[in-house]
Amino acid sequence: MTEHTPITTPFSFESTAAEVVNGIDLTGRRVIVTGGASGIGIETAQALASAGAEVTLAVRNLAAGERTAEDIISTTGNKQVLVAPLDLADQASVASFTAAWDGPLHILVNNAGIMASPLMRTPEGWEMQFATNHLGHLALATGLHRALAAAGGARVVSVSSSGHLRSPVVFEDIHFAEREYEPWAAYGQSKTANVLFAVEATKRWADDGITANALMPGGIRTNLQRYVTDADLARLRAQISSSEDIRWKTPEQGAATSVLVATSPLLDGIGGRYFEDCNEAGPNQPGSRRGVAAYALDPDAAARLWQVSLDTLAA
Ligand SMILES: NC(=O)c1ccc[n+]([C@@H]2O[C@H](COP(=O)([O-])OP(=O)(O)OC[C@H]3O[C@@H](n4cnc5c(N)ncnc54)[C@H](OP(=O)(O)O)[C@@H]3O)[C@@H](O)[C@H]2O)c1
Repeated sequence: MTEHTPITTPFSFESTAAEVVNGIDLTGRRVIVTGGASGIGIETAQALASAGAEVTLAVRNLAAGERTAEDIISTTGNKQVLVAPLDLADQASVASFTAAWDGPLHILVNNAGIMASPLMRTPEGWEMQFATNHLGHLALATGLHRALAAAGGARVVSVSSSGHLRSPVVFEDIHFAEREYEPWAAYGQSKTANVLFAVEATKRWADDGITANALMPGGIRTNLQRYVTDADLARLRAQISSSEDIRWKTPEQGAATSVLVATSPLLDGIGGRYFEDCNEAGPNQPGSRRGVAAYALDPDAAARLWQVSLDTLAA
């Protein structure tokens, strides 16, 4: 699967977003972080703002966004921290956001997400995890394509998860119309879609100098676990080998790989790859929860998903 030399960096599991961005100057760069008012989105936005970028927090909870922006401004001294409304599950909201964006966009961090929710559907009937985690972000990125191209060398960061190992994209029934709904399979499918998005975006947008990479941030206790019960956690623990028991990261560590993928000079011109613990991941080995599944990097599946997604959004 990996025919190239994997990217390695001096950073690791323990590295924080602040360490990763140390010495990098983002003055004059414009950044969007979706879900930037919670969890690792806050830490991602803070690190990028601390390096001098203009950062827009794209959030559905504007009050939380304003509070986060004030915190980041007071911590970093960077006044260019903005807030804009975005609900990824509402296509009118995505369209308003992209229509309102003016000028170049250097870094788009597709970070927002929901995990293992009970069965919910958008008004169109789309399964909510796929709609939020993948379709909304694809609509956002394509709506901002011109702005990304205008930046020259823009990067798109697609926050995936080791959860992608739970399911490929099941093209025959993406929205669980026929099969029984399983919250983790739906999360896994949406997170595989996040990786396939990076593969195809890099291919389609090569001539515009845009690259996209996907990543696993690590396990971080955030609001993401709102739908996860203690029984779920115990079951998840039982499924992984004892040598791989869940090792939690702090939010500052959890944002490190996103910030690395967004800013590291080691990734100049690199796209379509999957990172974890601040380094490019190798292929997943059976029985392990690390690495990337071959189906998530499959270029044919990536091309198919892109077209299916555009068709879905256009319907
Ligand atoms: N935490 C982990 O252990 C872990 C592990 C692997 C991958 N990840 C990935 O990391 C990313 C960030 O997760 P997190 O842990 O920081 O979770 P979090 O604290 O729950 O943050 C997720 C953010 O996404 C936003 N969001 C959810 N639905 C949205 C929608 N329809 N439109 C716009 N924004 C929406 C949430 O907004 P509200 O605050 O309004 O709900 C929140 O700001 C996710 O993509 C997740 O899959 C996390």
